[in-house]
Amino acid sequence: MKILAIDTSCDETAAAVTDGTKILSNIVWSQASLHAKFGGVMPSLAQRMHQERIDWVVKRAMVNGKCKMENLDCIAVTVGPGLSIALGVGINEAKGLAKQYDKRLVAVNHLEGHILSPLARPNNSQFTIHNLQFPSLGLVVSGGNTILVKINKIGSYETLAQTTDDALGEALDKGARMLGLGYPGGAILEKMARLGNPNKYKLPIPIVGHEERKIFTYSGLKTALSRLTESQKPLTKEKIYNLAAAYQDVAFKHLIRVISHVLKSSGIKVSDFFVGGGVVANVELRRRLRKLCKEYKINVHLPYSNKITGDNAAMIGVAAYFKAQRHEFTELDKIDRLPDYKIDT
Ligand code: KG4
Repeated sequence: MKILAIDTSCDETAAAVTDGTKILSNIVWSQASLHAKFGGVMPSLAQRMHQERIDWVVKRAMVNGKCKMENLDCIAVTVGPGLSIALGVGINEAKGLAKQYDKRLVAVNHLEGHILSPLARPNNSQFTIHNLQFPSLGLVVSGGNTILVKINKIGSYETLAQTTDDALGEALDKGARMLGLGYPGGAILEKMARLGNPNKYKLPIPIVGHEERKIFTYSGLKTALSRLTESQKPLTKEKIYNLAAAYQDVAFKHLIRVISHVLKSSGIKVSDFFVGGGVVANVELRRRLRKLCKEYKINVHLPYSNKITGDNAAMIGVAAYFKAQRHEFTELDKIDRLPDYKIDT
């Protein structure tokens, strides 16, 4: 089933062509460098840049996917969660193409895309994940979301824990900014952390001992880093490495402690765990997730490439494939943006 998928939920203009769970093309035009000077995403700038780039990105995805509009089975688009005015650009594009080429539309939840991203495969791959057992677990760790869900089956989700303030990626970005590492800083923070000693400084693990609250929260940790950084000025390279290491270590410890608590206390028996989102590119986080899953005898499924950890449209195509199989199409005049779209609705 060939799908053209579009995602403009935040600061990446993305289009992809997928066939089932196979990726035929995956084009992402990132605006991150344009937003860098503001230290975060500027919605009006994001909208303008999406409008400028969307046609080019879609055309590239079709050419690279060696696909003609006539050969598509349907068109998928992210309708939320995300920045409302940014989502609108992708939705208008998808609607326009669906009308012009008489294609059905699939409205996709961006979080579902991230959760199913480990199922995406390169076109030449012989490998597919077999014998998935449900219920299973899903985790999204991105710049905009940190959420742990129970997957009853593909398309049916229940929230088990979620963020109350900053998402993990956002918290890492803000920590990186405090250390003068630029924006978005998750990846550079990881590099600095590798050179440092996480035990040189002590930072508080959020809600330690109260993981039964089932929340992810980073505001206290951020404030603690800010105070500690101020007290350590002027910052030498070595101090930056050690601060980055301590901050990343505690941020991940909190995440793992909450997931571990849910696994222990919920009584849910799962054998598969899907993880998606930009922060999964982090090698140390992958290591800790694998260790956790080994302890609980769970198979962990991570995206096969960093091209599908951050925001992309290939994962939207994969989620749309399962929706289309269930005949969950949306009429052209009914599709609309859902900036606060919950995954369990
Ligand atoms: O999924 P994504 O594109 O999120 C949204 O736009 O919502 O992920 C972007 C996030 C950013 O916060 C970025 O700093 C983080 O993923 N990120 C990383 C790494 N690479 C990207 N965080 C930690 N380590 C990395 N290697």
